[in-house]
Amino acid sequence: MSTGGPAVRRLSDWDREHLLSLASEFGSPLYVTDLQRVRENCLRLREAFPEAHVSYAVKAHTGRAVLETVLDAGLDAECASAGEVQRALDAGFPGGRIRYTAVNPPAADLDHVVSRWEENPEMTITVGAADTVGRLTDRGFDGRLCIRANPGIGAGHHEKVTTGGHAKFGIPIDRVPSVAEDVRDDVELVGVHAHAGSGISGDDLSAHRELVRRMGDLARSIDGLEFVDVGGGFGVPYHEDEPPLDLDAVADATRDALGDTDAQLAIEPGRYVVADAGVLLSAVNTVKEVPETTVVGVDAGMTTLLRPAMYDAYHAISNLSRPDADTVSTIIAGPVCETSDLFAEDRALARPERGDILAIGNAGAYGYEMASTYNSRPRPPEVVLDADGPRVARRRETLDDITTLERTASEHSPN
Ligand code: LLP
Repeated sequence: MSTGGPAVRRLSDWDREHLLSLASEFGSPLYVTDLQRVRENCLRLREAFPEAHVSYAVKAHTGRAVLETVLDAGLDAECASAGEVQRALDAGFPGGRIRYTAVNPPAADLDHVVSRWEENPEMTITVGAADTVGRLTDRGFDGRLCIRANPGIGAGHHEKVTTGGHAKFGIPIDRVPSVAEDVRDDVELVGVHAHAGSGISGDDLSAHRELVRRMGDLARSIDGLEFVDVGGGFGVPYHEDEPPLDLDAVADATRDALGDTDAQLAIEPGRYVVADAGVLLSAVNTVKEVPETTVVGVDAGMTTLLRPAMYDAYHAISNLSRPDADTVSTIIAGPVCETSDLFAEDRALARPERGDILAIGNAGAYGYEMASTYNSRPRPPEVVLDADGPRVARRRETLDDITTLERTASEHSPN
């Protein structure tokens, strides 16, 4: 029997008492990540795409425990920076299971990645501009190279994450075959790649299908490719009543659109692997009745979970402390002095009281990763759940951590 678990884990599926006990033991705000759910998500992806090469887009959640879990579940690592490559290596991914996708790569990233590649020559580097190849070969790189195409079509949950057709990303698809010819003498050309965008729902499947069709044509026009990577972007339901993505239907549509090619299909989802494996717990600091609503001030904010402020993203929120209370309409606001520091407006919530613990769902993807120390607010800890119970995977940041860069600055002055 498959252990891939259900297609979605909703906020209401988490054990309320357990989350409350974690908040009381580890404090708030607190990220909680369930490694078993990460495993299940990996397994469902591998089952839906048995013939494909499946990588995890590390940027969604770079925590060591998550990376080790994903590695163990048989996925490879797609990394967006030198730092992510280093994290993947540290977590135990062999070079042959790491792909670095260079987006306008700073020189320092190329220096670092090429030196790691020297020790791990099976690593693959994906370039999105022809001149990046020269920057790599200047550093002595002659290894496995993948070319990122701009397929001229994108999709995603918000215009800020609709990547596919944006000029920033990839080489215009019609120019890729000639770039491929140009680079063949200098490197080992192994693949082509494109990414439509992030948070693709069942409704966007036509864009996905068209992207894959164009990539299939591209793969057929270039000899000897090992793989054709059609990116990540598989959406998860953030709204309580939204159906989960039908992964088998996506897989069928992908196969169908790709058509016959000797190159192996590759995918690289991030969000799908970790989103519903994480929740953010936050305590209510302030309850303020105003004529039009109830303002619920909580101790997490846009510095803890940026997605609502940045993309107007919806996250399910529940009041764990009052499962049976009547609901009231609320604004749920963080402690940062910015109007955008809101988790929700017009949100029905069990009538909150100071000290209550709220849970914010689907916080596992692009949650901790996008946290900042704006307003000199330390980042929260992360607790991971596994067979041995809960353990702190990242400790709470302190004010000392935040000011250490200034206090130690003189040690790094040039004179
Ligand atoms: N591959 C490439 C080349 C990417 O740029 C991305 C995401 C992925 C794969 C993984 O996409 P996913 O499967 O996670 O959708 N911060 C935004 C999402 C930005 C995604 C950027 N690239 C958010 O919180 O919605």
